[in-house]
Amino acid sequence: MSAHEIPADHPVLAPRPGATHRLHLTASGVSVVLDVTDGRAPTIAHWGAALGELGEAGLDAVCESAVDVVPQNAVDVPVRIGIIPQQSDGWIGRPGLSGSRPDGSGWNPRLITESIALGGTPITAAHFETGAGTVRFVLTDALLGLALRLEVELLPSGLLRMRATLTNTAETPYSLAELTLTVPVPADAEELLDFAGRWAKERTPQRSAFTVGTHLRENRRGRTGPDSAHVLHAGRPGLGFRHGEAWGVHTAFSGNHRHLAEQINTGRRILGGGELLLPGELHLAPGAEYAGPWLYASYGEGLDAVASRFHRHLRSRPQHVDTRRPVTLNVWEAVYFDHDLDRLKDLAERAAALGVERFVLDDGWFGSRRDDTSGLGDWVVSDDVWPDGLGPLIDHVRGLGMEFGLWFEPEMVNEDSDVARAHPEWIMASSLERMPLESRHQQVLNLSVPAAFAHVRDQMMAILDRYEIGYLKWDHNRDLLEAATSQTGRAAVHEQTLAAYALMDALKAAHPGLEIESCSSGGARVDLEVLEHTDRVWVSDCIDPLDRQQMNRWTSQLIPLELMGSHIASGRSHTTGRLHTLGFRALSALFGHLGIEWDLARATPAELAELREWIALYKEQRELLFTGELVRADRGDSVLWLHGVVSPGQERALFTLAAVGRSDQSQHERLRFPGLDPEARYRVRPLLLGERPTGLTLPPWWRRAEEEDGLVLPGAVLLRSGLAAPLIDPEQGLLFSLTRESTGSPTTHP
Ligand code: DGJ
Repeated sequence: MSAHEIPADHPVLAPRPGATHRLHLTASGVSVVLDVTDGRAPTIAHWGAALGELGEAGLDAVCESAVDVVPQNAVDVPVRIGIIPQQSDGWIGRPGLSGSRPDGSGWNPRLITESIALGGTPITAAHFETGAGTVRFVLTDALLGLALRLEVELLPSGLLRMRATLTNTAETPYSLAELTLTVPVPADAEELLDFAGRWAKERTPQRSAFTVGTHLRENRRGRTGPDSAHVLHAGRPGLGFRHGEAWGVHTAFSGNHRHLAEQINTGRRILGGGELLLPGELHLAPGAEYAGPWLYASYGEGLDAVASRFHRHLRSRPQHVDTRRPVTLNVWEAVYFDHDLDRLKDLAERAAALGVERFVLDDGWFGSRRDDTSGLGDWVVSDDVWPDGLGPLIDHVRGLGMEFGLWFEPEMVNEDSDVARAHPEWIMASSLERMPLESRHQQVLNLSVPAAFAHVRDQMMAILDRYEIGYLKWDHNRDLLEAATSQTGRAAVHEQTLAAYALMDALKAAHPGLEIESCSSGGARVDLEVLEHTDRVWVSDCIDPLDRQQMNRWTSQLIPLELMGSHIASGRSHTTGRLHTLGFRALSALFGHLGIEWDLARATPAELAELREWIALYKEQRELLFTGELVRADRGDSVLWLHGVVSPGQERALFTLAAVGRSDQSQHERLRFPGLDPEARYRVRPLLLGERPTGLTLPPWWRRAEEEDGLVLPGAVLLRSGLAAPLIDPEQGLLFSLTRESTGSPTTHP
């Protein structure tokens, strides 16, 4: 049985024509009220703050009071905006489902509700209230020959997610153009916040007014994209980390996709998302079906609350990584394509001496891949650079007590490769005579061709079978242009994306415990579906800590810290040319899955000693970092950014203060530490590792804290009044450890 089917033992409500059913799901401070009035398609009457127990009358009141007035010069009944908005319900905005039959019919669905199932709970009435749970609707349009299974799931974290599967029940093919799911947001959610970006500068926030029309974020790159909307929020104007109601959606798909925010002229506002299908890409033969991606929807008071629901959901999955995320050394910025066994062994020794736990060999170990123009797609160890295979390096690494990881880019080929020469028809193109433009000298290998899939799988499997490899860095370094199956000319991004997931799953199934990193020219494949098949994302090719402060801060709007690859690079950034102290590089990388990407042979003894201290600190703090709640302080335009993690019981916290520019008014700034228990008392200890940050000028409280092994203050003071900020130079940072005092200890004041 597929996940979308209704299990036979589930209670099923079969709405009679005209029957009305109202359901209330509530969990972790969120309520979702679903309304099936008169057996029509389901709408969301409320998605937002929890409503408490409603009872039948309350449920009716919520649904009835969500119905709009009927204005003049409009359809004669109130417009209903379904989860799949349709013209047949009076919606004149973008339809949720569009497609057509060869004769032009079939474009205007009128889906009605055939059945409703609620997981595990007997249903006796038309009103139903429960906690977290899944509601499964079957909708049909008998005239158009369409059936749709819609799952609406409120997770224990209060995160809502929905997905739909469309079946063509008619005798003729149905060409699907779009299936978009939506959630309503209130009229006073007047501001939009989503993300843009580019290579090496991913996830830059952008805010705009939520006005009439459609804010449409379409992605046709065939990958999630460095500029993906990430989370598209609507919220109260001035929405911050800790304040302002916010509603955010995320389309969980790594191929072409869309996010949208739409307001029609009546003021009705929705957020939505779905896969972006290319023309002719999805032809459903009679009886065939299409399963769309999950649309995740997170509500909260402030952006931290929105992020927290995503994090809690990811952390609750059985396959989620444990908190001992190994310190990783990736060799890319250390050696690039210059693979030399002795040099790499030396690097491994230096890494192990610092406490590194995983060593990853990057691009350049296979075929004729001595630079980026050749050999991509030939997953056979190069005899030229590795005459004895990878064994000598892997044995050395493992002998030093580290795990070994290896780079692949399974969906790509150089035209100058054995595989492309033997099978040019496997390259994605409109025809063999019309290759797409190359990007990084490479083309896309069509994994939706079964023989191509089997070839890549078998080559990768042979490497995994032969060597002890615990980790794959899975790269994907170009956009998909004109990505078609060359024999038919038909667009194949949808199939390609599913095939990539299937390949990841096949490798993991054959090698239990194998971890995969999702990398795509840095951070261009960061989404919740790829994380169902992988174990972390590479945030960006830019490891400059100043830029990473911003990229990590916003990547974590969706992704918890343990799934964000975060490395300490060499002093001068390879991407920006900027120079940073080790302290600022390390402190910026600490709030993530820590790694190193630096030729340690060039590091000074003092740097190595300091690096060892940072690695030890990470190991000491990783349990807190990867179970704690991420909190980011609202500090207006201040260039002193303060963020931290607070343990689930609010007993411990680790905060970092990062100066991302030169302050106009730094003498006056106060640090208020969010997320603490106002009733508790905390011991605040500044943590200084290695070289002191330049420009550090201490406020009196800090001196006192140094004398007394920390300063004990009420949580309410730290949270609401705050501490005078020290002065530091730009691109410097500080760390603070906070520990809850057991009751009874004296409170001291600065
Ligand atoms: C792009 C990645 O983001 C880098 O880290 C590195 O793996 C290169 N590709 C290798 O070609």
